[in-house]
Amino acid sequence: MYRTHNCGELRISEVGINVTLSGWVAKTRLLGSMAFVDIRDRYGITQLAFNEETNNEMLSKAENLGREFVIQVEGRVSERSSKNQNIGTGEIEIIVSNLIILNESKTPPFTIETETDGGDDLRMQYRYLDLRRDVVRKNLELRHRLAQLVRNYLSGESFLEVETPVLIKSTPEGARDFVVPSRLNPGSWYALPQSPQTFKQLLMVSGFDRYFQIVKCFRDEDLRADRQPEFTQIDCEMSFVDQEDVLNLFEGMMRHLFKEIKGIELPEFPRMTYADAMKFYGNDKPDTRFGMKFVALKGEDIDVVSGKGFGVFDSVDSVVSIKVPGGATYTRKQIDALVDWVKRPQVGASGLIWVKKDDQGNLKSSVDKFYSADDLKMWDNALELNNGDMGLLMAGAYGKVHKQMSELRLHIGAELGLRKPDEFSPLWVVNFPLLEFDEDQNRYHAMHHPFTSPLKEHRDLLMSNPADVNANAYDMVINGVEIGGGSIRIHDQDLQAKMFELLGFSEEEAKAQFGFLMNAFQYGAPPHGGIALGFDRLCSLMGGSESIRDFIAFPKNNSGRDIMIDAPAPLTKDQLEDLELN
Ligand code: AMO
Repeated sequence: MYRTHNCGELRISEVGINVTLSGWVAKTRLLGSMAFVDIRDRYGITQLAFNEETNNEMLSKAENLGREFVIQVEGRVSERSSKNQNIGTGEIEIIVSNLIILNESKTPPFTIETETDGGDDLRMQYRYLDLRRDVVRKNLELRHRLAQLVRNYLSGESFLEVETPVLIKSTPEGARDFVVPSRLNPGSWYALPQSPQTFKQLLMVSGFDRYFQIVKCFRDEDLRADRQPEFTQIDCEMSFVDQEDVLNLFEGMMRHLFKEIKGIELPEFPRMTYADAMKFYGNDKPDTRFGMKFVALKGEDIDVVSGKGFGVFDSVDSVVSIKVPGGATYTRKQIDALVDWVKRPQVGASGLIWVKKDDQGNLKSSVDKFYSADDLKMWDNALELNNGDMGLLMAGAYGKVHKQMSELRLHIGAELGLRKPDEFSPLWVVNFPLLEFDEDQNRYHAMHHPFTSPLKEHRDLLMSNPADVNANAYDMVINGVEIGGGSIRIHDQDLQAKMFELLGFSEEEAKAQFGFLMNAFQYGAPPHGGIALGFDRLCSLMGGSESIRDFIAFPKNNSGRDIMIDAPAPLTKDQLEDLELN
């Protein structure tokens, strides 16, 4: 038997019993007549004690142990003289009577500790060693627990987990596909699914009623901290539901997950329209952990800045501002740093104007040359500054300046410590536009995907004013992260055909791409809708990290490479010939 206990298990109550442990050598301390070795496994660390007097042979064996050797020890549990309160096993140690080396190890390229000396690339290359570190392992344990909870919750709500194929067909909508050549059908290609969207809709036609799958999806897009080329969705679909049914069910699931994992009772999720999200946060995934909502000083129904000789504000359609609480104390240097920050190409703003309200309530701005005290009072009325606050203003075209202000708001929110990782502010963003116009291609794209239903009350606008049509679609947003998105689908074949037409598909193209779905819709498609949650994002949100990589066992780097297995890689000539690709 390799072990009677694991390395995180033994307590003071076990003192006196004989045990066998197996694990990795984490640390060795040699003190001449004595040695202490920390043995580690997934469950924890236990101190092993070797003593010249009790067992000289084992002591000399212990002196030759290297880091990460795999060992097995037998010994007696004993109370420690100097206890370590930081670990569960800290009150005991094992007086070793027998030590067996099960396997030796090369010296690892970095220390396997919570605070390691290994850089990102090195740890990626030796990911199997990185995974021995308890911080990384704990992330995967969280992932496992979340998956279990999701499965149980959805099963309890009568959802069936159904697997859908991974070798499917490329479709032109959405991100780029990863493709796989077919040997048996030379010249033809499979695509890896960007999501199981069409399959889950077909399952509804089949009468499955409630489907879910924790499923790998593949998208060939540029990578960021919250994007991987292969990632996992909690993918769901339901029949005979409207938007409220879907939102309520998944809000319920999220509250359950937060309660179980974090011990937090989430508040009810507020609903915000896409238009309001853009107007007040400049972002369709607003971080609502903090305020600093946008206040328009020039826009559709206000203008308190034009006509005073300040050309920058006169020439634009939009001047938008935010209130920085306590910002009146910002120094010239701090403000200059903000100006530089917004002028970086990543944000691309042309500048930043400030107005401060001092402790006596006096207003002062960076454009006092153009604006009198009375003018500034009008700004203040809109901004509602408290004594000691500062307003920051940016000018430009509506869409552009809102986007830039969103970046600034998030930046200042972070600087002021308002984006706390242990606070959670969920919401639903609803009423997205159904379509977005692509200037380059001079055609509409589906904002979500082509199967999304327009709002019932907007259906008549579909052909006359497609840009004004809102979708029956929703996103779940928590702390500025898009955790999930979904919609009520089109189940009517005529409407679906109309939608393809709007998206610029000819009848033949639509048939070639989505004929299977349109055919299926002729056989009694029930009204249906669903959602997919980004499982990796959910894990990182709950684990308090910005990067989803930390929650994926073997992630890709920012160039989409797995540097451990060295993929992607060229094929051999023979392989290429087999596939008729040479
Ligand atoms: P969508 O494309 O919005 O919807 O994806 C759903 C959720 O998946 C996560 N996600 C990602 N996570 C990590 N890396 C990526 N590259 C990545 N791309 C997306 C996000 C996102 O909210 N079929 C529809 C869902 C539906 O309509 O039911 C879909 O895939 O958290």
